[in-house]
Amino acid sequence: MNFNHLPKRVRLVDVGPRDGLQNEKQPVPTAVKVELVQRLQDAGLTEIEVTSFVSPKWVPQMGDNAQVMAAIGRKPGVRYSVLTPNLKGFEAAVAAPRAFWPDEIVVFGAASEAFSQKNINCSIAESIARFAPVVDAARAAGIFVRGAMSCALGCPYEGDIAPERVAMLAALMKGIGVQHVGVADTIGVGTPIKVQRALEATLQHYGINDVSGHFHDTYGQALANTLIALQMGVWQFDTSVAGLGGCPYAKGATGNVATEDVVYLLHGMGIETGIDLDKLVDAGQFISDFLQRKPHSRAATALLNKRAA
Ligand code: HMG
Ligand code: MG
Repeated sequence: MNFNHLPKRVRLVDVGPRDGLQNEKQPVPTAVKVELVQRLQDAGLTEIEVTSFVSPKWVPQMGDNAQVMAAIGRKPGVRYSVLTPNLKGFEAAVAAPRAFWPDEIVVFGAASEAFSQKNINCSIAESIARFAPVVDAARAAGIFVRGAMSCALGCPYEGDIAPERVAMLAALMKGIGVQHVGVADTIGVGTPIKVQRALEATLQHYGINDVSGHFHDTYGQALANTLIALQMGVWQFDTSVAGLGGCPYAKGATGNVATEDVVYLLHGMGIETGIDLDKLVDAGQFISDFLQRKPHSRAATALLNKRAA
């Protein structure tokens, strides 16, 4: 094992309010979403993916996107991101006064044609053509642009995805000016060597500081996948408080790896996050209580049991 490249500090983007809640069938009131964001920033998260400006017919749970963005109490130093799949979404995200704009937008493409069609109703090539004006408009407005590369480790419709497909998508993203890309294991099927290959494919086009890992934990591999990415020098990850989530167009896929579990892993290895794990566990408990379930995090469960004892 080579630990020479382990970063000293890691930046986590909590995607719980977006990736986490988008898959919930029961309506989550705007006030609950806003309080979740508040609790995450109080716990020390400095990057929060708040909502998505997608069609409310496709993802009804995100239909209050503008209200959520207007209601969150912004904390200096915290960056707030939203998903915008097309110009209509971007224009909606910046229709409000500037104080309510996102700091960062996410365009989301796929390494799989079938998933691209199911998720955003167009081919990979068409998606890039749709993203290009979004990227231009965002960058002209001083908004940072991240790209999500779904199904980089496997697709619910096509199965295995070759690293060459990931490299191809990364090249397309780079070509239109996307500044950072996330290697996404949408359905959580990846294992460490596959993750390494997908990251190497991405690193052909992006530097190590412009790549992050976005690992769903369906098969329980996300912590192992995070560790191998760390060993490669990757220091940015998307995680979801209480392990909330999944994609509505990837049936059976569970949430992202729990932020609590990743923070426990990192702090245990002496890697800083700036996050207060106790407060984070409280944030996870808050949203889990609302959803009437236990947090989907081993570390949170252990810490809550310890508190109760
Ligand atoms: P479309 O039907 O192809 O779009 O949808 P269209 O341009 O033909 O428009 C059709 C209708 O949608 C029109 O309304 C538009 O106005 C409206 P109508 O005339 O029928 O009343 N519309 C919109 N409304 C609001 N906001 C918009 C918007 N765009 C069009 N931005 C579209 C294309 C992308 C909009 C649609 O397919 C969609 O909303 N898909 C949802 C995708 C989604 O949110 N998926 C989950 C997030 S991605 C994810 O979870 C993966 C990730 O976590 C990484 C990973 O794990 O892999 C990021
Ligand atoms: Mg996701």
